[in-house]
Amino acid sequence: MKAVILVGGQATRLLPLTYNTPKAMVPVLNTPFLEHVIHHLASHQIKDIVLALGRLAHSIESHLGDGSRFGVSIRYALEKDPLGTAGAVKNAASYVDDTFLVLNGDIFTDLDLSAMIDFHRDRKAKATIALTPVEDPSAYGLIETDARDRVLNFLEKPDKDEITTNMINAGTYVLEPDVLTQIPAGVKCSFEREVFPKLLADGELVCAYTSRAYWIDIGTPPMYLQLHSDLLNGKCRQYDNTPRSEITTGVNSSIHPTARIEGPTVIGANCSIGPGVKISGPVAIGDGCTIQEESVIKKSIIWRNARLEPHARVTMSIIADNCCLRSGCLCEESVLGDNVTVAYDCHLPPGSSIEPGTTVEPA
Ligand code: GDD
Ligand code: MG
Repeated sequence: MKAVILVGGQATRLLPLTYNTPKAMVPVLNTPFLEHVIHHLASHQIKDIVLALGRLAHSIESHLGDGSRFGVSIRYALEKDPLGTAGAVKNAASYVDDTFLVLNGDIFTDLDLSAMIDFHRDRKAKATIALTPVEDPSAYGLIETDARDRVLNFLEKPDKDEITTNMINAGTYVLEPDVLTQIPAGVKCSFEREVFPKLLADGELVCAYTSRAYWIDIGTPPMYLQLHSDLLNGKCRQYDNTPRSEITTGVNSSIHPTARIEGPTVIGANCSIGPGVKISGPVAIGDGCTIQEESVIKKSIIWRNARLEPHARVTMSIIADNCCLRSGCLCEESVLGDNVTVAYDCHLPPGSSIEPGTTVEPA
């Protein structure tokens, strides 16, 4: 079985993290997100993967290559301009010949793909859509079903007064190849707004595969933080790639004996954690970070090569690559793009979002 992964969205809700890094490559526990997805597919023996991509394609392609490093085969279907979710799959049609999977490339899940494929075949469906319950469906595709798991209605991004269920499209589909004939070539087209509603209107059998699998869309900074918290707290246990011990440290990293680390924390390679540093997990720190004395990090994600000078504090924040946090500065509930410097003693207002390359001075 082949899988097409959609990784060509604009990722605007994850800015400023995604100016230079596509959403599919943001680190999750210090490993690019897509590697987790590929590992999940491979664990279900799905090893023939097509990436449908556009923006920042080069960084994805140069990292993943032909996939052999990950025990899979990866091919690429590049869009000049974004073709939408269905248009992107149509653009990859030459790679597809049989029943196939489509995955939104920003979902972390331990969904039982093998069971979903079996379900699709048993039902002889044209399309099967994975469903998951969420508290607020308004940011997703709402799906109504009957008692026999047939999809009755698909409503993308419903208004509050249109919400009739908390079950949403979980962004994993099993499709018969002739669904591709419903999609026009070379123009923008959406599964959610066009193809699925059309299949339903035509009376095709579209089934819903409901599960209680772990599920999250990493498309916003709070969700991205939530994923780390969930993984580090063992909420996705079936996912065998997640660390289980309290503190995981990469090669060549040192932790000063007076540093105090509480709660689950992942520290990458070549890091230095100085005297009196206090870390309260869940925390992920990327490779090459220098955390100097008496700095404090709580419930945060720090990418590669950050430098926290003495007494810098980071709480509930995401810090992208190569940032410098000068002595005594404070980042609370903030998101910093790559190469940001926060000046000496500068306290960022909570909720700050700082563009790459900026130096932030005290107000
Ligand atoms: N190649 C390509 N081209 N990929 C695209 C394009 C495109 O034009 N547009 C979006 N994608 C990719 C994104 O990169 C992402 O991986 C996936 O398609 C879904 O796009 P999002 O922009 O993240 O959509 P969403 O989260 O608002 O809604 C979608 O996901 C929900 C579940 O998280 C929809 O499928 C909803 O129905 C669903 O509930
Ligand atoms: Mg999304």
